[in-house]
Amino acid sequence: MSTTLTLLAKHRILTRSHSLLAHRLCPATSSATLHQPVRNNHAAGGQNFRPERTEYANLVSKSLLPGEREEFWMSIANREITWTTPPSTALSISPSGTHNWFPSGTLNMSQNCLDRHLPSRSSQAAIAYHSSVGGNSRSITYEELLNDVSKFAGGLRSLGVEKGDRVLLYMPMVPEAAVAMLACARIGAVHSVVFGGFAAKELAVRITDASPKVIVTADCGLERARCIPYMPAINEAIDLADSPEPSVVVLRRPEGKARGVSYEMKERDRCFYETIENGEVTAPVPLSANDPLYTIYTSGTTGDPKGVLRDNAHAVHLKYSMSSYYSLEEGETFFAASDIGWVVGHSYIVYAPLLHGCTSVLFEGKPVGTPDAAEYWRIIERYKVNAMFTAPTALRAIRRDDPESDHTKDHDISSLRACFVAGERADPDTIRHFEEKLGPSIPVVDHWWQTESGSPMCGVQFSDVGTVGGSCGLPLPGFDIQILNPETKERITAPGVLGSIAIKLPLPPGFMTTLYNNNERYKKSYLETFPGYYDAGDAGMLDKNGYIHIMERTDDAINVAGHRISTGLLEETVLRHPNIPECAVIGVNDSLKGVVPVALFVVSGNCKSTSIADDVINLVREHVGPVASMKTAIEVQALPKTRSGKILRQVIRKVANGEEYKLPGTIEDASVVDGIIEAFGK
Ligand code: COA
Ligand code: AMP
Repeated sequence: MSTTLTLLAKHRILTRSHSLLAHRLCPATSSATLHQPVRNNHAAGGQNFRPERTEYANLVSKSLLPGEREEFWMSIANREITWTTPPSTALSISPSGTHNWFPSGTLNMSQNCLDRHLPSRSSQAAIAYHSSVGGNSRSITYEELLNDVSKFAGGLRSLGVEKGDRVLLYMPMVPEAAVAMLACARIGAVHSVVFGGFAAKELAVRITDASPKVIVTADCGLERARCIPYMPAINEAIDLADSPEPSVVVLRRPEGKARGVSYEMKERDRCFYETIENGEVTAPVPLSANDPLYTIYTSGTTGDPKGVLRDNAHAVHLKYSMSSYYSLEEGETFFAASDIGWVVGHSYIVYAPLLHGCTSVLFEGKPVGTPDAAEYWRIIERYKVNAMFTAPTALRAIRRDDPESDHTKDHDISSLRACFVAGERADPDTIRHFEEKLGPSIPVVDHWWQTESGSPMCGVQFSDVGTVGGSCGLPLPGFDIQILNPETKERITAPGVLGSIAIKLPLPPGFMTTLYNNNERYKKSYLETFPGYYDAGDAGMLDKNGYIHIMERTDDAINVAGHRISTGLLEETVLRHPNIPECAVIGVNDSLKGVVPVALFVVSGNCKSTSIADDVINLVREHVGPVASMKTAIEVQALPKTRSGKILRQVIRKVANGEEYKLPGTIEDASVVDGIIEAFGK
């Protein structure tokens, strides 16, 4: 990786200072509060999201210094969580530096999300379900949700599910998905939610790895005007998977019936609501803080997905994050416009809002086209949303369809106090646009996240600096984030110098603890590159304010519309084509999705077919799923390679994106690059 870069200039880092943001913060009422919740205090101008340096420095050092950090997290654990057995020790660190938080504590996530709120919140909405595609909405109170969860937990038990067994979910955005997750948590079963945009073959890979006793699914998902039957994919995936046959619980959706979806139930299938009706009311099981809560698959460098495993100690960090990062009071309304198939959906549609006694908006639809670019603002008005969370891609889509943000003027969004973005690098122009259109009382806060972290790692902006476009600010408590030189492994402190993002061990509560079934891969992927650190797989740099800029992945993952996709997996899929001996898949900049994958492929000499590009696109759709958004495949005569046969993907990517590139001295045949330039019409 290059050393001093002119990236500061190249990426047009914009430093803006808002006079409103220079206001002083109220003094903290608790040592563990970073952002003070402000109820509808618009005069505050969003400064509650921007602490002063001393307050921030004190809090972060407490959360990191050995001795103090244990006290820091222990006091949060005792204050925020109802324990069956309160922990006597905060942290146990293994010789390799990995963590076990609150090892002697026992608790239950579902009890903390539901039962404990009953005395004060039984009739408050726990979930406000809003389906723009199904055209319906309904509220589920805490009492109703607890009833469904405790009975569904009994239903799972009757299907043989016990503590430690896996339950796989392949669900559209419906409240029943949250019911199933919480029911697993209630009995100590490990849920594994797979995003509905993955095809049967990718689903089968996850079924093989997780070996679930039960799969919970629905008969269909709704994608804009299309109704997508799920059962063919489920049944194909079960046939393909190398694991014992699971029982399948199927939610029969009225929306599917109305759109002509029919499905003949098999012997292994059960109806979702019959499972609830016949389920015994089941009490929460006390679980160790280090018992697994769930696995979630994310892209690795090979085609094999990584099953990130998280334990029940996660509850502590999630609960804390609601007041301290998102500045929400208990009982307020949070709208995370993600999907339960992604980590943001796990953390901020299901667990964290419920831990905090909030109402969580569960949205089935898209930011645009369902029906239009006003839908987010309509939801904010209707449910009086206090904070929202979305991806920069969604904001770009809204801006494309409503360039002047006229829709924000048609709706009363005065309840909203902040708009958080994450999932991919936010381009400064989009952030600046929405800051201007939403006004100073609704700051747009970029924060950095990963599936592995389970909660944001970076996202603090000082009151005297404000927003710096393209940066997600400073590390949050618990994260000692450093930029390291990948060759020398030394720390980089100079601004504008690109390096690898690494986090000093131990990691805070809620961070992944290992990879399911594969601790060796966990150590190799994350802990070996920089001994004593977690390697985040991102490259980035500091600016003059010490703010962190996450620039790109250091592995072969790309971020397509905020979804992490492995180009390695896409290449393996393209190479399934019998006439394609070689290919390269690279991420090409896209004004809407940030990056989209493009495949370049070489065809074997004897093949005369003219439809290979279409075949490639169909292969990816069929094997990986539509979520990969691969719409372009181009045939080339040859791919540029080094003399040792390594494909020069970085050169191809730079050509495709119109960036300057340098050919390495080891290139086998420099003239091949001309064919690439021609392929991209450059
Ligand atoms: N089930 C089945 N198919 C799905 C699916 C699901 N759950 N989710 C997505 N797909 C399909 C889509 O229908 C689309 O198929 P198509 O190629 O046939 O049109 C494809 O996967 C790509 O989907 P998507 O990335 O949603 O693209 P889009 O063109 O339909 O919509 C945006 C564009 C910008 C509106 C959309 O990408 C978006 O909302 N992005 C924000 C994502 C987000 O919030 N991420 C949060 C991560 S924290
Ligand atoms: P995922 O695990 O799918 O959530 O993807 C995580 C990856 O998305 C990170 O490793 C980053 O590459 C990218 N990412 C997430 N949030 C941000 C952000 N705020 N700024 C830049 N990149 C981000």
